[in-house]
Formats: sequence, structure tokens, C-alpha cells
Amino acid sequence: MLQKFNKINKVEGTLELPGDKSISHRAVMFAGLAKGKSKIYNLSNGEDVKSTKKCFREMGIEINSSGDAVEISGSGLGRLRKPINFLDAGNSGTTTRLLSGILAAQNFNSTIIGDESLSKRPMKRIITPLTLMGAKIEATEDYTLPLKIFSVEKIHPIKYEMPVASAQVKSAILLAGLHCEESTSVVEKIPSRDHTEKMLGLKTETTAEGKISYVSKQNYPDPKEYFIPSDISTAAFFIVLTILAENSSLRIKNVSLNETRTGIITVLQKMGARIEIENKKNIAGEDLGDLNIFSSKLKNISFDDKIIPNIIDEIPILSVAGIFASGKFEIKNAGELRAKETDRIKSICHNLNLLGLYVHETENGFSFSGEIKNTQPIFDSFGDHRIAMAFGVLSLLIKNGGSVDNYECVNISNPDFLNQLKSIAK
Ligand code: S3P
Repeated sequence: MLQKFNKINKVEGTLELPGDKSISHRAVMFAGLAKGKSKIYNLSNGEDVKSTKKCFREMGIEINSSGDAVEISGSGLGRLRKPINFLDAGNSGTTTRLLSGILAAQNFNSTIIGDESLSKRPMKRIITPLTLMGAKIEATEDYTLPLKIFSVEKIHPIKYEMPVASAQVKSAILLAGLHCEESTSVVEKIPSRDHTEKMLGLKTETTAEGKISYVSKQNYPDPKEYFIPSDISTAAFFIVLTILAENSSLRIKNVSLNETRTGIITVLQKMGARIEIENKKNIAGEDLGDLNIFSSKLKNISFDDKIIPNIIDEIPILSVAGIFASGKFEIKNAGELRAKETDRIKSICHNLNLLGLYVHETENGFSFSGEIKNTQPIFDSFGDHRIAMAFGVLSLLIKNGGSVDNYECVNISNPDFLNQLKSIAK
């Protein structure tokens, strides 16, 4: 579907957004594992989290809406039911990888399948450590879905040094380790998002080796109430739109401010953006607060390698900010972008090229400079929700507007994107 966006004059108002996608996946999973009733408030309403719910329902977990919350009756340790059908993770890498860690430790065989995009994404990164733990997993020759996960006698603990910065891989290991008597540890040279550690209350320490996270059966979740903050990765689109639009200001309430996710705010502030944080609080280990954002003039800066995992989901919209900032925009050491819902390096460069910018694609990044020449572009989302929203925001800022093809994929993380835009764009 082709979605047209007209140029806006300014942004004004207040938003409160659906729950953080990463935290939502984990809340559903941990509530499904815990024995008894949990309640989740402000759960993400995107397709990805629906995929996680569908997989848990398939394993006998009851999930119902109850007023403004979602109620989940979890199974308890070793009590998930053998699924009759394949577990369909849809488009969701987080569902696939985290669920694999859980399934590796169950007393039944299971198969995870996914859509065309998910079926191309690399799974060797989880198969290797889970196999070291004693899991038996079969994939295609290229280590992609479908994943067949066989029941084994016992999963045993490991100490694993992460070869890539990936919270999904780290979490797969930690969730398998959650089923072991003795301690499993994961070492990260460059830390990735730490929602699994925070939500399960895991012990972590920073050593000369890197950040180490420990898990064992003792950390198995109990039922509880989860309050999920507004998704900072969704907020990022509105933050950049407000900064770039003239005479604009926006308040976004209760945004997740976990320090492994706030790189987008730090980076934009360094580029010159006025973003103020108010009402900071902590709920169940996760920081959140209100953001006040104002129109600002930006300059491009160089990014430290260590910040890349922290801003990995925000690079598409950060590139849009880079177009309007002075100087050259450059991303390096971000090869992981090629392993997302689409090859994000290729898809960002394709769309920037449509504008007539000077774009240079490298193996692990890209750079660009120049002025927008094409004033009525038709961008392609390549089926990737973050590319669709990033270039939707860009379309709202250029003279004759623009269009985004294959737009419907925004439903993966934020089905209400257009309505939210309507409520703040003047
Ligand atoms: C996620 C981790 C990141 C991120 C994804 C969600 C998570 O992926 O890109 O959108 O919830 O753990 P990687 O762990 O593969 O970097």
C-alpha cells in the first residue's frame, strides 16, 4: 500500500505511546512462564508482540484482555504444553530468538516458523550457544527458519562470550539458563539492551572481561503486575519530527529511559537538539520519564562504536535527522543493520539516493551529504516498519511531501502511527 504524507507546518501537543516492544515481549514471556496470574498494563499493540502472545497461547497459556490490562495465566516451570501447530513468530526476531532459549529447555519438540523476512534472518548466532548448552536444534542449510527444537535430557549451564552485541542472543542464552540449577553467565564486551536482566532481577557485574550477567533457576519469574513505559524507539520518530519542524514543541509522557536505550536522546542532544527530561521515575527496575522536545538546529557528529547497539533501531530516523543537519552524516561499524527486518543499510541508501543526495554505502555503514533535489519522492519501506516510519517523517518535512510504498508494515510496532501524527501535526 502506498501512503502519501503532506508537508506539515508545525508540531504541537502531547503524546503517550504504546508500551516498549522489547519490554512487552519479555513481559508476555515471563508472565507465561510464571505459575499464576500476571497483569500487564500498556502492552505494545503491534503485530510482533501479538506473535509472542500467539506462540504462548499455542503452548496452553491463557491470555485475555481485562479492562486496560492484559491478564496472563502462566504455567510454572516445565509446565508449558506441547504445541500442536508450528509456532509462528511472524516478522519477529525477538519472539524467535528469545523463545528458542525457552524451548531448548522444554520436555517437548517444537518448530518455529516465520514470514519471508524472518525466514532470511541469521539464526546460527543462537544455535551455536544453545547447542553448547546441550540443546538439539535443526535449521536450514543457511541456519535460517524453520527451527526444529528437540527435547533433550538436560540443558547445562555455560559461560559464553558474545561474539556480536545482541540482546536477542544474550536473552536466548539467559532464558535457557533460567531452567538450570547452576549459574549460566554471558559476557558482553559492548553491552546491549538489558531488559531481560532487569525484569528477571539478574545479578550483573562489570569486570575487565566486560559486563557479565548471571542466571539460574533461582531467577525463575513469579507472577506480577507489569507497567510498560512508552516505547522510546517509537518516540524517536516524533522526537526527530519535532526537532526538524519549525516553531514546534512536543511532550511525550512516560517514555522508557533505560540507559541501554537512551542513546538516541544523547546523540540528538550532542547534535544540538533541545530535549528536556522531566518526572523521572523507576518502575520495577526500568527508568521512565516525560520528554519535552523543541525545534532545533542540528549539526552532524561522529558516533562512537560503543553507542551503535544502543541506537541500532533508531539509525533509520537518525539518518533523516542527518539530512537536515550541517556537515556529513556517517555511520560506521554497524554491520548488524544488514541483519534486521530488511538490510537497513541497503534500504536507507536506496531511499537517500532517491533524494539526489551523495550517498556512499560501505559493508558496515554508510555516509551521505548534499541537498535534497527530488521534491516528490516515492520511498520504499522494503517491508520494514522502522524504514516506513523514518521516511514517512521525512515526507512530512519536504516541500511537496512524499509517499512510502509497502507502508502497512508499520503495524509491526505501531499500528496507530498515522493517528498519533494527526493529533500533533498542524
Ligand atoms: C531487541 C534487540 C535488538 C533490536 C530488536 C529488539 C530485543 O536486536 O534490534 O529490535 O528486544 O532484545 P539484536 O539483539 O539482534 O541487536
